[in-house]
Amino acid sequence: MTTALVTGAAGALGRAIVRRLTADGHRVAALDVEAKGLDGALPLETDLRDPAAVEAAFAETRARLGPVGILVNNAAVYPARPFLEVPLAEYDDVHAVNQRAYWLAAQLAAQQMSTQTSGRGGAIVNVASITMHGGWSDLAAYVATKGAAAALTRALARELGPEEIRVNCVSPGAFPTAAETIHPDPEAYDRMVLERQALQRRGKPEELAAVVSFLTGPDASFVTGQTIEVNGGWVMA
Ligand SMILES: NC(=O)c1ccc[n+]([C@@H]2O[C@H](COP(=O)([O-])OP(=O)(O)OC[C@H]3O[C@@H](n4cnc5c(N)ncnc54)[C@H](O)[C@@H]3O)[C@@H](O)[C@H]2O)c1
Repeated sequence: MTTALVTGAAGALGRAIVRRLTADGHRVAALDVEAKGLDGALPLETDLRDPAAVEAAFAETRARLGPVGILVNNAAVYPARPFLEVPLAEYDDVHAVNQRAYWLAAQLAAQQMSTQTSGRGGAIVNVASITMHGGWSDLAAYVATKGAAAALTRALARELGPEEIRVNCVSPGAFPTAAETIHPDPEAYDRMVLERQALQRRGKPEELAAVVSFLTGPDASFVTGQTIEVNGGWVMA
């Protein structure tokens, strides 16, 4: 049994990841700005934009559940606006949640996982997005942070490998979640997704969570620095 911390735990994909890691037998800390209704998990109501609050959440997790052995960096914000109209403050906000917090959480987790401190190692999964491959209009800041999540994955895998810390990335395609409400015509969006996917159905959050489970589990013990596309065959990278 390992202690797992999942960020963005109250979102559609985050909830599925929390459920799956709990079913895998882990003690799960569920971090979100509002962490309600996450039965069985330790709720951490934390704003990832606040580094001191993130540090406190990791300290609380360690005190209540033991040192973190699994981290899933899953939280994200995705305000839609044409590139030329994005205020720098909005870019900073997107970066603070989708990238700086991934960095800080990985650092805090690695300190608890390090073989030097725990003798155990650990597994980190960063959640990217299919949009990092082909771009997406009106989401430039979001897309940039998702490319950064994949690149950070490789850099940390290289640097933390000697500590037996594996770092991987999952890149979701289009899952039917609240995130889709940013697209104005849901039926047209649904048709567009199926035209691009090889599989002719929408993905389920559980199918993303299953890949996170694999990457954080013993069957992936020799897998690090990889990005796994979970998109029904939309982008084949
Ligand atoms: N849903 C999709 O189709 C899809 C596609 C590609 C990538 N993704 C990625 O999957 C991940 C989960 O997406 P989702 O669809 O579940 O989105 P979601 O919006 O349902 O969940 C994101 C969660 O992050 C939390 N969050 C946002 N800002 C925060 C902050 N400052 N502090 C703490 N928590 C904060 C939100 O409260 C929310 O619960 C994201 O990284 C997203 O980029 C999703």
